[in-house]
Amino acid sequence: MTCRICQAPTTEILDLGSSPPANALTVTADEPQTSYPLVVEWCPSCGNVQLRDALSADVLYRDYLYTTPRSPTLDAHYDILISYLRMKEILNRGTSVVEIGSNVGHFLGRLSHEASRVLGVDPAREIADEANRSGIPTIAEFFDSVSARRILQDWGRADLIVARHCLAHNESPHEMLAAAALILAEGGHLLIENAYVVNTIENIEFDQIYHEHMFYYSVTSMSALLGQHGMRLVDAWLTPVHGGSIVFVASVDDGQTVSSRVDEFLTSEASILTASSFARFAGRSHTVRKDLRDLVVGLRRAGKRVYGYGASAKGNTLLNSSAISREHIPYTVDSTPMKQGRFLPGSRIEVIPEGSSHPAPDYYLLTAWNYEAEIIRKVRDGGNRATRFIVPIPSVRVV
Ligand code: TMP
Ligand code: ZN
Repeated sequence: MTCRICQAPTTEILDLGSSPPANALTVTADEPQTSYPLVVEWCPSCGNVQLRDALSADVLYRDYLYTTPRSPTLDAHYDILISYLRMKEILNRGTSVVEIGSNVGHFLGRLSHEASRVLGVDPAREIADEANRSGIPTIAEFFDSVSARRILQDWGRADLIVARHCLAHNESPHEMLAAAALILAEGGHLLIENAYVVNTIENIEFDQIYHEHMFYYSVTSMSALLGQHGMRLVDAWLTPVHGGSIVFVASVDDGQTVSSRVDEFLTSEASILTASSFARFAGRSHTVRKDLRDLVVGLRRAGKRVYGYGASAKGNTLLNSSAISREHIPYTVDSTPMKQGRFLPGSRIEVIPEGSSHPAPDYYLLTAWNYEAEIIRKVRDGGNRATRFIVPIPSVRVV
């Protein structure tokens, strides 16, 4: 295919077969569903990693139901972002802030005490309504040059634009960045946060790959992208949030000093983002899928009961790409009321609440392996000492 960032030809690095969208849980077990390929491509020219096939943003986001949880981990992360922005003098009481993909407005709520005014932009209508009801002004639009012109007219320029976990979710990063350039004030900044591709490939987190995640950014590819919009990467740093993310800070002003961290990232990425490490990643991903299927099928044959734990989006990539379905695993436990009673896309496994009356299984497959310690503690504290846990990533092990 042609790279969506720089138009050079790309190379296929991983094929995970086809899956329905990872968050499309169904109400019944036999509701029709459409699957789309999950094929990952790498552009040796600009370093970009992206999905070959894009789903329309309207399909994915207009009726999006995921609301950011209230979590102490996320609140601490918001405070770190705010301290950073203040220290760098990017944020002060005179700053106008626009957040793209602002969801219910938790981060803007905190920023509103530090800035002169805030505006959220989020295409999910019900979620934008909820933000407005809670006092965070939010427009229910995709952030593109049309909505940006309207913001410019009705609201004015932004000194700071925040785009957390949404740039990589968009088929047209060029559209989003062109729109950002339209409304940024002179000397303005853009803060972007996303999963970091180096973590994904080094930790064999192939389950992070699903249709919502269109792009897998690095400092190398982000610099290339920003450069095409008259912006410059001035800083980048890692954070443990969402299983390992990276914060990119860009400026529209050429005169800004660039942190030495940017060059350090570029140097290390030059030796990590190579054809051979992508091949290793693909090989190890394949091994996990095969080992996991063999283990689960073998346990079923031996008459063991296996349930999933955590109806996460990445769990659906794991199950579907390993060809594990309700024949092998009848139930997945999840604490989210909205998911309970529904069926996982593709595998059609029924989601049941924690502490449901179903008999405890012999094994839980930890599809939400990023919460390993938390979940095992919870199960043991509930009095279950017998069930063992299958941890799938970075390689299959039973604990
Ligand atoms: P996430 O990795 O996308 O945050 O998804 C994790 C899923 O796991 C989410 O649907 C909630 C679920 N979960 C539980 O059911 N129990 C738990 O104790 C934890 C930590 C998560
Ligand atoms: Zn490219």
